[in-house]
Amino acid sequence: MSLLLTGIAELTTNDPARGDGHADPGDALLGVIRDAALVVSDDGVVEWVGAADEAPDTDHRRDLGGRAVIPGFVDSHTHLVFAGDRSAEFAARMTGTPYDGGGIAVSVAATRAASDDELRALVAARVAEMRAQGTTTVEIKSGYGLTLDDELRSLRIAREVTAHTTFLGAHVVPREYASDRAAYVDLVTGPMLDAVTADGPTALAESIDVFCEPHSAHAFDGDEARTILEAGRAAGLALRVHGNQLGPGPGVRLACELGARSVDHCTFLDDADVEALAAARGATVATLLPGVEFSTRSPYPDGRALIDAGVDVALASDCNPGTCYSSSIPFAIALAVREMGMTPAEALHAATAVSARSLGLDRRIAPGQPAELAVIDAPSHLHLAYRAGVPIVRALDL
Ligand code: NIG
Ligand code: FE
Repeated sequence: MSLLLTGIAELTTNDPARGDGHADPGDALLGVIRDAALVVSDDGVVEWVGAADEAPDTDHRRDLGGRAVIPGFVDSHTHLVFAGDRSAEFAARMTGTPYDGGGIAVSVAATRAASDDELRALVAARVAEMRAQGTTTVEIKSGYGLTLDDELRSLRIAREVTAHTTFLGAHVVPREYASDRAAYVDLVTGPMLDAVTADGPTALAESIDVFCEPHSAHAFDGDEARTILEAGRAAGLALRVHGNQLGPGPGVRLACELGARSVDHCTFLDDADVEALAAARGATVATLLPGVEFSTRSPYPDGRALIDAGVDVALASDCNPGTCYSSSIPFAIALAVREMGMTPAEALHAATAVSARSLGLDRRIAPGQPAELAVIDAPSHLHLAYRAGVPIVRALDL
């Protein structure tokens, strides 16, 4: 049994070869088909894509009423496993208190104190909130446990909702190790990593991540980050890095050198960083997280300059209790367009095709691909940024 979706005013396929040949560069990038149709099998696989007037006959039909359909957003950077509330920290930042990573300890204490079921319910609510805004694939990091048992528990709870889990034992040095940082790095690269990979390299985590940030007393410097990433790679994990968030630093170049799938934030870059990212095209994606700059009153990264330099640019939410408690990819897209010089098409591509690539996924709408779709209550993807803040996009339940 197959379902024919009709009434699609504009379909973004993310497949330039499949677009209907409009001259607009954004439409070409997105492989846009106007007046499109889609056939989906009952096990959720795309069977046919094309112009509505060429669509095959099927058993069932659904008319989407002239809406735009896009690939579901791939949110490739989140920290959804946490308990507690840090809204007062946000309020203080809005009146000038800078962010330094110190508040992470507040979330660590609350997360350790929460039961498994409490954490599970919090994660489920956040994933549902994301789906209601068009996100169909999510990466989730640990990093608010910071003991062996609490990191494992965070990863297990994350794995219940996604295959794309990331071990972030190296989020910050927890308070109990503040006077012996080396011992904490040993714990992360030894017993914690052994436990995470005990049932097979990627049984619990797909990737390892580190907050490489010399501008935070709580995070890791370049040498510590290298040790952690090399250990993770040797254990069979893919690499991700939080880099150059609070100031210039070694994170971006280290990520490119080690072949990380993604280096995230990229807020403070020098020419050598941009050159390293451009040279790493096809291997390392620069994942920009503009909700963080919004929520920390920081300058936005220069998405335009990165794209013009030939860098693979992704967008993600970084949903977390400290620097950005927004799970909204449409918000990130609106900021990228308004504040970072990206076109609406580049921003949508960054939040679907490129973020997917950073997780080893292909997010095109093409025969054989999973039908991970989102629908917009508007005739064009342009409305995502144009109607910022209005809930017009959601995952399409088939
Ligand atoms: O991606 N940079 C480090 N980690 C998070 C923030 C964590 C927090 O403040 O709770 C981030 O911005
Ligand atoms: Fe993060």
